[in-house]
Amino acid sequence: MNEFGGNWTENKIEILIEYAKAYLTIMNINASKYNWDLLYFDGFAGSGQIQGDDNTSTTIVGAARRILEIKDPRSFDLYYFVEKEKRYADILRHKTIPFYPNKKIHVVNEDCNVKIESLSRFLSNNGKRFKALAYIDPCGMQLNWKSLQTLEKHSVDVWILVPTGMGVNRLLKNDGNISDAYSSKLEQFLGMSRQEIFSFFYKESQVLTLFGEETITTKEQNAIDKSAELYKERLKTLFKFVSEPYVLKNKMNSVMFHFFMASNNKNALRIANQIIKKYNNLNY
Ligand SMILES: C[S@@+](CC[C@H](N)C(=O)[O-])C[C@H]1O[C@@H](n2cnc3c(N)ncnc32)[C@H](O)[C@@H]1O
Repeated sequence: MNEFGGNWTENKIEILIEYAKAYLTIMNINASKYNWDLLYFDGFAGSGQIQGDDNTSTTIVGAARRILEIKDPRSFDLYYFVEKEKRYADILRHKTIPFYPNKKIHVVNEDCNVKIESLSRFLSNNGKRFKALAYIDPCGMQLNWKSLQTLEKHSVDVWILVPTGMGVNRLLKNDGNISDAYSSKLEQFLGMSRQEIFSFFYKESQVLTLFGEETITTKEQNAIDKSAELYKERLKTLFKFVSEPYVLKNKMNSVMFHFFMASNNKNALRIANQIIKKYNNLNY
């Protein structure tokens, strides 16, 4: 079972479900008119169940099963769930396929990066008639920018959980001395060079000390918000519209993640922003 991150885990799933229902309502009219098929892609699907982290037996139903439950106004025509951990993929398969015999469900035990690229190839070739809704819900910085880049210009609405506090900010050391391993993780995740990342998050200034002039490196004060702004700008290079983020905070009120929706459809943006606003207001 995957571990539960508190209230925001539930809110994140509720946001996705609310959006998926609105998406299916609009697509229900257009799909028959234009002969479209609808695909749901989940890149970090989990086991279908999320376990509480508070030593209680609290569990919540994961997004994959919640999405499968939706049948009104319609279902998706195809569901594609990706999970890298074999035992989670096996559990998810057993908890979904037998329960929805009329739905086309694939559960694959693979790396999401590999399968996003396959999704992109599919949408460009045999799957041209498909419109897709994708959910990218990693626990860390597993999504590579170059994988996401392959979705550029496709008819896909993507919800992405970005580990701004949990990931990016933790790798950006205060003194700017970022190890090669951390730097290459940041480069892979943001699709930027080491120098570009450094210039975005750090300032260098010359100060006069007892031993002469020295260079002082200072990290941006609000690196978490800055990394959310940066990721949003990066997403805008791939998609026409990017929503405001839903901000996920832990019990100590520290920001862990920002949750965005990116799309090439203006209506998608409007709906996503309405839902996000409602849930951000619940945070206060
Ligand atoms: C936050 S959990 C997903 C929870 C799930 N969305 C739900 O609602 O139940 C992240 C999942 O991604 C899986 N994972 C980690 N790295 C991955 C990768 N590179 N590709 C695919 N899955 C991965 C983990 O095993 C874990 O089950």
